[in-house]
Amino acid sequence: MTAAVADAVAAVDYDHFVTEPDGSTLPQSSSVTSIQQMLEDLEVRPGHRVLEIGTGSGYTTGLLANLAGADGLVRSVEVFADLVPRAQARLAAAGVTTATVTNGDGYAGDPAGAPYDRVVAWATPHVIPSAWIDQIGQDAAVVAPVKVARLARAHAIVAITVSGGRPTAVSARPGGYIEMHSEPVTIFGLPLRYVDASHIPDDAEPWWLSSAALREVPGVAGLLLDRLRSAPHTSATPLAPGEDLDDFTAWLYATVPVELATAGLSDRFAGIGAATEGGAAFLTDDELITTGNPDAGRILTLWIEEWRNAGRPGWPDITGVVVPSVEGWEVRLTLR
Ligand SMILES: C[S@@+](CC[C@H](N)C(=O)[O-])C[C@H]1O[C@@H](n2cnc3c(N)ncnc32)[C@H](O)[C@@H]1O
Repeated sequence: MTAAVADAVAAVDYDHFVTEPDGSTLPQSSSVTSIQQMLEDLEVRPGHRVLEIGTGSGYTTGLLANLAGADGLVRSVEVFADLVPRAQARLAAAGVTTATVTNGDGYAGDPAGAPYDRVVAWATPHVIPSAWIDQIGQDAAVVAPVKVARLARAHAIVAITVSGGRPTAVSARPGGYIEMHSEPVTIFGLPLRYVDASHIPDDAEPWWLSSAALREVPGVAGLLLDRLRSAPHTSATPLAPGEDLDDFTAWLYATVPVELATAGLSDRFAGIGAATEGGAAFLTDDELITTGNPDAGRILTLWIEEWRNAGRPGWPDITGVVVPSVEGWEVRLTLR
């Protein structure tokens, strides 16, 4: 941990922000390890103007205010209205005077505080919103989780340097937060974007399937998901001991083969793999789940061979590129 982040972590009382009156932890609290890593990437310096998306408990707002110091400012945007007065009260009780929390959709940023030196998000947008880049000043940076493919749960945490109004460089590492949403989330465990088929049991986690290729073929994703629910075949993972599924996943995100798919199989797992019109094959940490004809399994085996032949590249070998789109700035991964 850098000295500045370590000092901020020591100065801001986590429990003060996240603890509820009944002693439980606010569900919208982030993992402290992930917060610290993102703050190191963000490099907030004294005097910086910081835009935060997703106030949650206000803990990270307190950390950012500490890092930006008395001459800096933090503007934090939270979509869930009930959390705003809660965070405001806790920040005030902690003596934080340089942070403002407002209720709104973080996709719009917060023009009132622009230009910002830093933007950080604790919820995952599908693209880096144009508003964030428009509201940023010279030599600025954005650190945020973002989608890296048009597949559910395909995300990474990226650090983007912005110069002259253009995002210029990206580093990427694994991780993600809840998807950014404008309306309250009603079905927990079901991704908000790029789900091509789903089944929501009353008493268990949802089933879902995401496949960009099958998106074009009506009904097929639903049939495959039915098969995964009714006739899954489970075997040991084809990855060898020491081969890391996270690294293989990074390589798949960087190469994005046509049949690439993601799935959530209720309480069993959320996995990555291949889906074709006739079958599917998904990897978990220690299992291979297949259904239908063997094509998808063969394709997955082929990808593993290609990854091995490429030297098993993983997250350290991956970088990101930022491309403009009608909805904002898309982030895609590529091998260095
Ligand atoms: C993981 S929590 C944030 C935790 C916070 N960093 C903390 O330490 O307590 C993500 C937050 O993002 C908020 N959020 C989700 N979509 C949003 C949006 N479109 N605009 C602003 N906030 C959003 C959620 O309501 C939630 O409070």
